[in-house]
Amino acid sequence: MPPIANQPIEGALTRNAIFLTLSLHQDDAALSVFRDLCADLPSLVRAVGFRSAEAGLSCVLGLGSGLWDRLGIGLAPAGLHPFREIAGVHRAPATPGDILFHIRAERPDYCFELASQIMRRLGAVATVEDETQGFKFFDNRDLLGFVDGTENPQGVDRAAAVAIGDEDPAFAGGSYVIVQKYLHDLAKWEAMPVESQERVIGRHKLSDIEFPDADKASFAHNVLTNINDAQGNQLQILRDNMPFGSPAHGEFGTYFIGYAREPGRIETMLENMFVGLSPGNYDRILDVSTAVTGGLFFVPAAGLLDRIGA
Ligand code: HEM
Repeated sequence: MPPIANQPIEGALTRNAIFLTLSLHQDDAALSVFRDLCADLPSLVRAVGFRSAEAGLSCVLGLGSGLWDRLGIGLAPAGLHPFREIAGVHRAPATPGDILFHIRAERPDYCFELASQIMRRLGAVATVEDETQGFKFFDNRDLLGFVDGTENPQGVDRAAAVAIGDEDPAFAGGSYVIVQKYLHDLAKWEAMPVESQERVIGRHKLSDIEFPDADKASFAHNVLTNINDAQGNQLQILRDNMPFGSPAHGEFGTYFIGYAREPGRIETMLENMFVGLSPGNYDRILDVSTAVTGGLFFVPAAGLLDRIGA
């Protein structure tokens, strides 16, 4: 059985999340402030979260490859590299970021308070690349109106999907995470008949029931993102996408976040979506959704995070 990734990656979908991407200033003082935060993060989460067990506050910290090199730990995790831009039918841009905080809770105040405490520590030594506040929308639907997260792996398959194992023993228990912020053209999407939307996703909109394989379009989202290894085993990832937006400003989005024990499987899904599974057979979600950020981070096991802080 694979080891359990011991930052809290595998939690259930929560009502609220904050996704915070920062670039650390280049000087040594900034690095030292960041190291201190790594050491203190578990106690910060405890201090903010202990006041309500129901709030279920958690925080995952990811490191970009540039920052990893600066930490001087030596050997790098095998899959760690900068996010690779994809220019297919649609474009998946790579955007800056050294540190990702994935903060989750059942209540927005807990996410807000932890993000505030983190920024109190890092605000003077880091540039904010992005802050997205996500929320649960009805029955786990995205703003396109479809239930999002249904086919996530469960039970032991969850750990097997996300936790680095014997293939990279120095980093066992860690993980990788890819994030992308998507903005939707909802007017364009809503002008499409529901039957066409369902062909794009490969599931029924109201019931969330998956189409039989024979009825799925070759470009359906769940065809392009359902991938196997050479032996025919499905390569799974763990997603915790969240809607976000501002109706007053006409902003409607999905924050994509996918964890995996190696980033290649997420990159293959992205190739299939943006270039197409056979070129041109791309994901039609992208005709109404524009990726505006893209980052890849290594999530160290809790023990290693502690060493970084030492
Ligand atoms: C499935 C929405 C981006 C990977 C789904 C489903 C929805 C959805 C509604 C079906 C229900 C479910 O199983 O969760 C979206 C939206 C996106 C987005 C709105 C962005 C605008 C991505 C990206 C990836 C991805 C970027 C990977 C790189 C997957 C996978 C599944 C899935 C692996 C399960 C497929 C299966 O085996 O049935 N997504 N998604 N999604 N999505 Fe996405």
